[in-house]
Amino acid sequence: MSFKRSEGPRGERNIPVIIHLEDPEGATGTTQKEWKLMGATGESLLELALDNHINIEHACGGVCACSTCHIYVEQGAECLSESTEAEDDRVEEAPGIQRNSRLACQCELTKGGTVVFRVPSWNRNAVKEVPH
Ligand code: FES
Repeated sequence: MSFKRSEGPRGERNIPVIIHLEDPEGATGTTQKEWKLMGATGESLLELALDNHINIEHACGGVCACSTCHIYVEQGAECLSESTEAEDDRVEEAPGIQRNSRLACQCELTKGGTVVFRVPSWNRNAVKEVPH
């Protein structure tokens, strides 16, 4: 599936980003739960993951119109763009919402530091599991 890339200028690829996958098989086809990547300012966490073959679900293509790219930011929230009202509204629709819930497509790296985030196991089929 295609997705919208962030448009701003890119910095150097020197920001450590650690991803914990609750369902590594579903997202990568491997059993590797922890991935250490290097991101650049101006890049979204969704882009970084997809470019490294970590398939975080992204039903709307990264335009803040679903909540399937829901993640938990466990460290380095200050290194990410602030969430907007539109993102907050979408996050509220995600199952398992927590204080550190964000949408991966809306989190752009803004400065250095280490970012750690978790991809919940139900990310893969969140659309079907949202109660009506
Ligand atoms: S991919 Fe739809 S909101 Fe992020």
